[in-house]
Amino acid sequence: MPATVVVGTQWGDEGKGKLTDLLAGESDFVVRYQGGHNAGHRIVVNGDTFALQLVPSGILYPHVTPVIGNGVVVDPGVLIQELDGLIAKGVDVSKLIVSGNAHLIMPYHQELDRLTERYLGRNALGTTKRGIGPAYADKASRVGIRVQDLLDPKIFREKLDMVLAEKNPLLTRVYNRMPMDARAISARYLDEFAARLTPMIADTVGILHDALDEEKKILLEGAQATFLDLDHGTYPFVTSSNPVAGGAAVGSGLGPHHLNRISGVAKAYITRVGAGPFPTELTDELGETLVNRGHEFGTNTGRRRRVGWFDAVMMRQAARLNSLDDIAITKLDVLDTFETIKVCVAYEHEGRRFTTPPYHQSVLHDVVPVYEELPGWQTDITGCQNFRDLPRRAQEYITFLQETTGVRISIVGTGPGREQFVIPENA
Ligand code: GDP
Ligand code: IMO
Ligand code: MG
Repeated sequence: MPATVVVGTQWGDEGKGKLTDLLAGESDFVVRYQGGHNAGHRIVVNGDTFALQLVPSGILYPHVTPVIGNGVVVDPGVLIQELDGLIAKGVDVSKLIVSGNAHLIMPYHQELDRLTERYLGRNALGTTKRGIGPAYADKASRVGIRVQDLLDPKIFREKLDMVLAEKNPLLTRVYNRMPMDARAISARYLDEFAARLTPMIADTVGILHDALDEEKKILLEGAQATFLDLDHGTYPFVTSSNPVAGGAAVGSGLGPHHLNRISGVAKAYITRVGAGPFPTELTDELGETLVNRGHEFGTNTGRRRRVGWFDAVMMRQAARLNSLDDIAITKLDVLDTFETIKVCVAYEHEGRRFTTPPYHQSVLHDVVPVYEELPGWQTDITGCQNFRDLPRRAQEYITFLQETTGVRISIVGTGPGREQFVIPENA
């Protein structure tokens, strides 16, 4: 049976949580396949807001089994806190399962994330300082500690001692910090966290394959986005995992043939948090309007997001990198008040025109966007129930995005609420 991937096609915060929640209504399993609590996925149901970090966005449906896949990095303290928050709101979290192969974020990861950012000074990446990069680095260096190690205190302690023998000199001699105490860490992870998480630890790969055999529907929820991808993003201003659709196979254990629908998510404009190139960035009053109308502040970190016009050049690349079948365009309503709206259809650099991004990043930093300017609709669309209810110019904007990117637009967001969307007629 089919597995669908929801993938961010810009620099994050496109509304993956909202789309996942919508599609989860028809899914049996919702799987996070990479990233960690650097993600912030907001879902609004009947005026109630849920800001999820690690827990998959299918959690709100009792029929869904939420899965934290092997590709995720898990801060167990944060996971427990998030679960407690959901329980307090009356959400049943008892079906959540966590891959034993997922890696743990340890206290030294978070500390090192903060320290390296500080030492990078004005070259800092603007990470979420959650320990994501250092945890994935240890995974790649094969000194990571995995979720399944919580089940074996002897192994956990041995691994921790081995890692601290390297991390403590780094913390004390390079960064002039206090060393970390293995006993204190073990006490928290093995007593407090393991006691709570043990019932959730599972062979998620086996469970998902059995589910496929039973014709169950699986939804794979990406975090971060295509241009934050470690390989395909604007390196080094990226995250440390592979959010692209291919990462969904690796991070869940499904084979690539099982991924039979890839749905991208994009805002009707574009945002980015943290440093890095951003060809269509708006730093003027229009940008300020987008920030305010779109509430463009980080779901978890509260950081102000940088904003700009929709970039079709990047979207064409996202379509290639992810094998996009369709895209959901979110936050169209945020453009309701604009007199005119620009869309970047190409870049120019020293007389050359690019319709997909230049491979050399120094060029990307200097490109000049080529815009098409479309008339705005200056009408409130938040109550629209059907695509036909949208003002003609809003429909034309969507049609233009579809034509210039070459990707079918399957759904259009008209507000944050679960019910606030319309489906284009040809979708
Ligand atoms: P994610 O990280 O991709 O899941 O996106 P975030 O949740 O971080 O950010 C998207 C924000 O936009 C959230 O606050 C959503 O509630 C909100 N949102 C999603 N779709 C729409 C939409 O169509 N219109 C409006 N106004 N807000 C939306
Ligand atoms: P969701 O899933 C937007 C950005 C950070 C920083 C870079 C590296 O909500 O779309 P990291 O902490 O991952 O090492 O930071 O990636 N970043 C995000 N930006 N949305 C996210 O997640 C992000 N997760 C990481 O701002 O620029
Ligand atoms: Mg987000």
